[in-house]
Amino acid sequence: MKGLGTIIQWPAEAIWEAVSPLLPTFSVEVVPEIDSTNTELMRRARAGQLEPVLLVAERQSAGRGRLGRNWSSGGGAIEAGEPLPSLTFSLGLPLTPLDWSGLSLAVGLSVVESLHPALQLKWPNDVWLQDRKMAGILIETASVGEVRYAVIGVGLNILPRDIQGLSMPPAALREVLPDMDAPTALARVAAPLVSAIRRFETEGFAPLRAAFHTRDLLYGRELVCSDGITGMARGVDASGALLVHTDTGLKKITSAEVSVRPISAPSALSAHRP
Ligand code: BTN
Repeated sequence: MKGLGTIIQWPAEAIWEAVSPLLPTFSVEVVPEIDSTNTELMRRARAGQLEPVLLVAERQSAGRGRLGRNWSSGGGAIEAGEPLPSLTFSLGLPLTPLDWSGLSLAVGLSVVESLHPALQLKWPNDVWLQDRKMAGILIETASVGEVRYAVIGVGLNILPRDIQGLSMPPAALREVLPDMDAPTALARVAAPLVSAIRRFETEGFAPLRAAFHTRDLLYGRELVCSDGITGMARGVDASGALLVHTDTGLKKITSAEVSVRPISAPSALSAHRP
């Protein structure tokens, strides 16, 4: 366990104790600042460091999001004693699932189930609260020899903030959990996430489909996809593909390169999820 240069009390030891029976060479590392926890673990993997690790950064200078976007953690320099505006961490581990499809949904589901019943998932893995994004997940993999190493990055807004130029400010966990802070959120999320990933490795996404539907923000809503498809969201299939009822029939969307946006409010149909 390493916590170099940080004065915040992180639950590194408790997480290590909970996770190391599942992942014997697991370690937890907390750094005050880094470019990006995902970038760092991908760099390490390519250099042959393939042990399971949880890397937490109090601040990222070049956080990355899906589809080549930036990820801003909010705030500038953090004064001593001030709460962190967000929780940013990456979990890196060698992974050998029979089928990788649905991993991002399984990760999102684990995060929301660990935090609050009001949190929803926007396919494939954004966490939303009251129709605004609250957290994002970026999954990357590196193949090193025979090993496939997965880096699962999570960025989660803790404090509400105004972002200039955004009509809809992002949501924050404190809106539903007023006493929440980044270390407490990490303590709630980290060990269940490792367990969920290990389960996914052997069982895949199919057993999680019904639970995903209970948190599915898009279910029964009209949506538009970045590849031009429009239609009504009808949940996901057993592999985690998004099902969209269009004028020309049911379409399955599997590509992580596609982004989707709801264009209607929740409908009565959303109460009847499979
Ligand atoms: C998205 O919504 O586009 C995904 C955002 C993922 C952000 C997290 S913060 C920790 C990890 N490090 C990064 O650079 N990105 C992920």
